[in-house]
Amino acid sequence: MADDRHPSAENSQPTTDNALPPRASAAATPYTGPDPTRIKTMFGSIAARYDRANTVLSGPVHHLWRRTAVRWSGVEPGDAVLDCATGTGDLAIAFKKSVGPNGRVVGTDFTPEMIDLARIKARDITFEVADVTALPFDDDSFDIASISFGIRNVGDPAKGIAEMARVVRPGGRVIVLEFGQPSNRLASALYDSYRRHFLPRLGGAVTGERGAYEYLESSAAKFPCGDEFVAMMNRAASFTSIDVKPLTFGIAYLYRGVVS
Ligand SMILES: C[S@@+](CC[C@H](N)C(=O)[O-])C[C@H]1O[C@@H](n2cnc3c(N)ncnc32)[C@H](O)[C@@H]1O
Repeated sequence: MADDRHPSAENSQPTTDNALPPRASAAATPYTGPDPTRIKTMFGSIAARYDRANTVLSGPVHHLWRRTAVRWSGVEPGDAVLDCATGTGDLAIAFKKSVGPNGRVVGTDFTPEMIDLARIKARDITFEVADVTALPFDDDSFDIASISFGIRNVGDPAKGIAEMARVVRPGGRVIVLEFGQPSNRLASALYDSYRRHFLPRLGGAVTGERGAYEYLESSAAKFPCGDEFVAMMNRAASFTSIDVKPLTFGIAYLYRGVVS
């Protein structure tokens, strides 16, 4: 098992912090991402109420997950970090606290309305409008590239992973935080019920865009997690190791790929 702050570069096999769930329905169906134009329009229309909706829907939990992602990334003071699909910038802001004044954090997203809000929240971070599938950065420019709750929304997620790996130096890390599906039966039943019945209503009530939260519900239910997502990462780019960490019964997952 890789050390939490210093991911092993020697492991060639995917490893887990906890047992991975047996995957259910999505196993046989290759994943195809959503239409990027539709996604950009959708996030443009909910941008102003996005943060409030996150707070109502998950309380402090989404911040705890992002903090775990930062800790688990092995980030060091002075590092250069790229946060892709940064939205309103919460993960980029969490990374900035760890890299300190000598470090550099860049946040990118292809929805300008989200980037405008991120810029207001953190003036010490550079935010740029950019598509994760065509990053405007040289090879090996960053120590870490991250994406939280973004990869599920990318039209070609494998291309997104490949681009993130390209801009990270060898030995650096690609960090992905994304929804999964709990393996435990009771947790799965409770979470499914919340996701189906409450999430679209609550999200719709807060943002006035119920369709966006119906999309969140259905995309989170089918997005590949655990071993399936590791397989996607391995197909997309060359990693010397990929570690997996289920969070909160597998409602979310963290993936850490060490770039070879
Ligand atoms: C659910 S939000 C996540 C935002 C933020 N990372 C967070 O943790 O709250 C998904 C974000 O992915 C962005 N996105 C989707 N596809 C993208 C792409 N191809 N390139 C860049 N950003 C993308 C959307 O614009 C949106 O801001």
